[in-house]
Amino acid sequence: MGFCSPVCKVLRRGKYFVLLFLSLSVLAWIAAFSGETVKSFQVSSTTTETLVKGDGLRDKLSPWTAAPDHLNTPTPKGECPPESPLLQGAVKLSFEPSLKLKDVESENKEVAKGKYEPTDCTARQSVAILIPHRSRERHLLYLLHHLHPFLQRQQLHYTIYIIQQAGVATFNRAKLLNVGYLEALKDYNWDCFIFHDVDLVPENDHNFYVCDKQPKHLVVGRNATGYKLRYKGYFGGVTAMTREQFLQVNGFSNTYWGWGGEDDDLRIRVELQKMTIVRPPTDVARYTMVFHKRDSGNEINKDRMRLLGRTPKVWRKDGLNSCSYKTLSVERLPLYVNVTVDIGKP
Ligand SMILES: *[C@@H]1O[C@H](CO)[C@@H](O)[C@H](O)[C@H]1NC(C)=O
Ligand SMILES: *[C@@H]1O[C@H](CO)[C@@H](O)[C@H](O)[C@H]1NC(C)=O
Repeated sequence: MGFCSPVCKVLRRGKYFVLLFLSLSVLAWIAAFSGETVKSFQVSSTTTETLVKGDGLRDKLSPWTAAPDHLNTPTPKGECPPESPLLQGAVKLSFEPSLKLKDVESENKEVAKGKYEPTDCTARQSVAILIPHRSRERHLLYLLHHLHPFLQRQQLHYTIYIIQQAGVATFNRAKLLNVGYLEALKDYNWDCFIFHDVDLVPENDHNFYVCDKQPKHLVVGRNATGYKLRYKGYFGGVTAMTREQFLQVNGFSNTYWGWGGEDDDLRIRVELQKMTIVRPPTDVARYTMVFHKRDSGNEINKDRMRLLGRTPKVWRKDGLNSCSYKTLSVERLPLYVNVTVDIGKP
């Protein structure tokens, strides 16, 4: 190739220009990249910030996968303090005849479907409140009115369940509470259960609605009895047992129809398991009993002494494991879950 036209010479020189341009581009690119790295080192001088920066990079690379990641990450909430800062001690209770369910609902906007949990900390226990019920709407209203704010001041995660006995057969508080335990566990694996009469309103929020290492009896005194324990060994009105404690005693007996005996039966079950009953101090375990006449359909159970005599022999077979019932409806209302059941008749 002895001859080369001027055109050819230009092309040959052009080749060097292209090479030079490419090398300059590579250099420029390296310079820009290292500049970025230096910048990110300046911003993220600590390990945490480096992690955050890494997240930021991932965001830039694939925002559609990174974004949901951020939404699902729960904001870390600490456990609520051992004693809530919201407690008020003894409060004056009111029982206004003009009170309406709507009023109680608007006072408790944070409660939905009977449930509440603190927003700024994680509750120390999750508690199901079980209230056996039939035609005591007025008492229930007063109780809800006081109990919701009371439980919220204690910073608990809780749901209130009303166990409504359908039909007109004699009332059976104990069996309704067994049903409540079984039904509430379908919603959530509650740590603690409070078995609560509808006509007892707690007066002091230092009476904690949580469970202990031993079964707990919360009603030491009520205004109707001069705030004295009704009798030694009394275990009625309001009691607290963990999920395991209640299972261990096989729950309540299902055989107490009418008023009385079922709470003593539960005490015998607890004692047979070598558990001991604990109580809060007298000055806080105080209740107001809302006045009422004995209900028809809840007459005194004359058979209760005979039944109590056979408890040690029958408790294994009569209780949670033999509780048969038919759930008629489960209504999730703003302030409580209404579980209506057919529990049969004596
Ligand atoms: C207890 O207090 C309630 C509510 O104030 C009242 O209706 C009831 O009569 C009181 N009982 C006694 C025995 O004082
Ligand atoms: C519970 O639901 C039943 C059936 O709908 C109803 O008759 C009863 O009044 C309800 N009880 C309460 C306390 O809401």
